Amino acid sequence: MDAIRAILSRVSTKNFASSQITKEDLNTVLNCGMSAPVGRKRYDTLHLTVIQDKKILDAITDASAMRTPEQPDAPLYNAPTLILVSSKFERTDHIEFANAACVIENMAIAASALGLGSVYLWGFVQKIKDMPAIVDMFDLPQGFVPVSALALGYAVHKPEPSDRPRHSIGINYK
Ligand SMILES: Cc1cc2nc3c(=O)[nH]c(=O)nc-3n(C[C@H](O)[C@H](O)[C@H](O)COP(=O)(O)O)c2cc1C
Repeated sequence: MDAIRAILSRVSTKNFASSQITKEDLNTVLNCGMSAPVGRKRYDTLHLTVIQDKKILDAITDASAMRTPEQPDAPLYNAPTLILVSSKFERTDHIEFANAACVIENMAIAASALGLGSVYLWGFVQKIKDMPAIVDMFDLPQGFVPVSALALGYAVHKPEPSDRPRHSIGINYK
């Protein structure tokens, strides 16, 4: 799929099938994450953790306590792969969040191009980031804090590709 079509077709998946993605697709997604722009080239302030261990995925789900009758599979929607983005916080202008967002969106677009489902996840990270029992399972390098994540897998109901935006944002021209 070309880049424009992959971007226009990207949509959040909240119903993942149990089958795992291939190593090749995972590597492509990770390579695209590493190709994101990062402020002042500080790639060393970012870290990615690929989590496919069901025990850890289940521990995150339980600890976040985000399941509801409306969303019984929250927060990970049964995704078989989670890519956690962690940052080393050195500044007060929130650039770490901007950098993480660029990495995640690059990976989401790559997933779209590969026909994979993905969803950008913020909520569960806010719940678990201060829980040592969960964060210790990630084996993060010293000084890194979880910021957000991308869940990856195959969508149970694969969305139709799109050739137009699914949402709109106000624009003005001067
Ligand atoms: C910064 C950010 C945080 C998000 N956090 C969550 C989340 O915690 N849980 C979730 O289900 N979706 C989350 N999303 C996905 C959005 O809800 C979704 O992108 C939005 O509703 C637009 O839908 P679409 O992605 O299907 O086009 C997040 C998206 C962004 C960009």
